[in-house]
Amino acid sequence: MKEIKTIGILTSGGDAPGMNAAIRAVTRSAIYNGWRVMAIYRGWQGLIDDEIVEFTSSSVSNTIQRGGTILKTARSKEFLTQEGREKAFANIRKHHIDALVVIGGNGSLSGAQELASEHDIPVIGLPGTIDNDLYGTDSTIGYDTALNTIMDCVDKIRDTANSHDRIFFVEVMGRDAGFLAQNSAIAAGAEAAIIPEGQTDVDQLAEFIGRGVRKSKNSSIVIVSESQKDGTGGALYYADRVRKEYPQYDVRVTILGHLQRGGTPTAYDRILASRLGYASIEALKEGQRNVMVGIRNDEIVYVPISRAVKWDKPIARELLDVLAVLSI
Ligand code: F6P
Repeated sequence: MKEIKTIGILTSGGDAPGMNAAIRAVTRSAIYNGWRVMAIYRGWQGLIDDEIVEFTSSSVSNTIQRGGTILKTARSKEFLTQEGREKAFANIRKHHIDALVVIGGNGSLSGAQELASEHDIPVIGLPGTIDNDLYGTDSTIGYDTALNTIMDCVDKIRDTANSHDRIFFVEVMGRDAGFLAQNSAIAAGAEAAIIPEGQTDVDQLAEFIGRGVRKSKNSSIVIVSESQKDGTGGALYYADRVRKEYPQYDVRVTILGHLQRGGTPTAYDRILASRLGYASIEALKEGQRNVMVGIRNDEIVYVPISRAVKWDKPIARELLDVLAVLSI
């Protein structure tokens, strides 16, 4: 592999708390090794539009505690086209970038894989998404912070649910993955979670009502993953059903929305991001390419990006049982 002198770094897709800690770690580890760091603004779109400046060590000062991404982010439609990726690669050459570090979720890392399959550029992915839906890593940067944010919100909603004897359907993010819903439900002591992974022939609402929770409790909290791409599901859908099928229940809906994406990263996310960022430079020094750096059983692992984005990351059956048993 060509000797690396300069790397490019970008964040893409949905922002996630801890992305700044990752940018800081990548930047400082690269500079420590004598490499230059080119910061690419607004994700893949910024690479196409040549929004690129050199970072020094002080460019990332005072950022570890900040949510969002100082590099800004975008969801680029143009990068999905071959012409878009050609423009992006032209800018990679223009700035003499020898390798790219990409921080983002499924779509962003799929883009990285596509670029690397068409052009000679080593890419290292860092899992940055609140959804925790990348295969091969126990946690993604931002997931722990989002989980804590949801837990704090549900703790507050619980006061009203209790005081008024209501059922609350609380909608959380996670388009295709129920990690946020399932684990926030456990952490907040909710009565049930309705998750995309459970969308089988079993009706998750009927199952929740059928458990007879209302016999032992006057109030309940059900955490629901946001609606699917086809528009089915979501908290409003389930609340409407309960209003029709069980008019005796007093039902309310809270959609947490983008409240879940911002905020100060937790210590866990800052440390994770710092470790993964440092490891991305070590990976490049070892000659790795087109891998995502993840964490498993507290150890750094390299996962081919093709697997990280395509393979399913199932929710452990045990987590479903824990919630079901503890919510009686
Ligand atoms: O992938 C992260 C995520 O927050 C998903 O949970 C959510 O479905 C989506 O991004 C929302 O994206 P946007 O902010 O572009 O509406």
